[in-house]
Amino acid sequence: MRDRMQRLRRGAVTGVGMAAAAIVLVSCGGNNNASSNNNGQNSLRPAGPAAHKILNLFTPFFWVAVVVGVAVVGMTIYVAIRFRVRPGEDRNPVQTHGNTVLEVSWTIIPFLILMVMAVPTIATIFNLAKTPTGPDVVHIEVAGRQWFWQYTYTDKDTGFLTANEMHIPVRRPVLLTLTSNNVIHSFWVPELAGKKDVVPGHPNTLTIEADHPGTFLGQCAEYCGISHANMRLRVIAQTEADYDKWVREQQTPLSDAKVQEFVKKISGQWGCAQCHSVTNRLKGPDAVVASVGPNLTHVGDREAFAGDIYPMQLDELTKWIYDAPGRKPAGPLVNWMPNFSKDGMSQQQAGEIARFLLCDTASDPASHPECK
Ligand code: CUA
Repeated sequence: MRDRMQRLRRGAVTGVGMAAAAIVLVSCGGNNNASSNNNGQNSLRPAGPAAHKILNLFTPFFWVAVVVGVAVVGMTIYVAIRFRVRPGEDRNPVQTHGNTVLEVSWTIIPFLILMVMAVPTIATIFNLAKTPTGPDVVHIEVAGRQWFWQYTYTDKDTGFLTANEMHIPVRRPVLLTLTSNNVIHSFWVPELAGKKDVVPGHPNTLTIEADHPGTFLGQCAEYCGISHANMRLRVIAQTEADYDKWVREQQTPLSDAKVQEFVKKISGQWGCAQCHSVTNRLKGPDAVVASVGPNLTHVGDREAFAGDIYPMQLDELTKWIYDAPGRKPAGPLVNWMPNFSKDGMSQQQAGEIARFLLCDTASDPASHPECK
């Protein structure tokens, strides 16, 4: 009898200890500690106004939930121990049905808690839904594709197309218009804002803003086909000067010789230009021709490719061009990168195309050791 009691106590102590350890571990993730595992998608480490507002809502609710959870579980454990059947005991508890005071109070208390929580929740929802206006606002159209993100910079001082890697200036609101011409996706950069669905036929808006320079990772958060998990993205927040430099680089067209090399030589043999463009302007003689696949005008400027899953390196690009479906499954999707190795492409040919994409499209080829 005493043994059992001790065992029970020990079990309870272990359980509480494990729960405490779990809470400590979880809270470590929110530290700015370099040793903590940081996957770049930590909504507990907000880096912009929208993410701060969400965290400010989440934190008090989390502690309310902790208090309620500990109280309920604690009382359940207490009752289970206190009123357990002891050995040799043969009795039924007093049979009762209903207790008006109890029933009314456990209906009214949660109702009141939820009513109180609803006030800041609704206020935050309306606050986050506001569309920013003014000359400061950057406008980008985000198109969810199977499986990458296309960004159209629509402002007068920008006006170009890019993919997967979004650059934004710090401390300026960026109004995203989310569109899809295929299935539902969801745009999510946890450190900058909440997630928002990207729905065919129903453009949504989402405002992001970064309060300091940095790289913020995100991903599609709505199942959208076999490579849903391979639909990542990154947002690079830059100082105004760095952002302006990037914009000018994106606006700089490739030389005619390079465009011809892509269109005539490379695409002439493999048909790349049916889906990809090496021009990226929205209007004018160098306007985008094809945008089924990611725009390749300055693909060499990006840090990663293929839905932000492979680092922008020569060997990775080569493997990709040689056999894309082998590196990112597309299932039965038509209009997708073919397996060129089956169409007679040699590894060497893939390597030459990769070199063109890496070195000839980069604004600063010297940034890639392979291009030297
Ligand atoms: Cu796009 Cu999941």
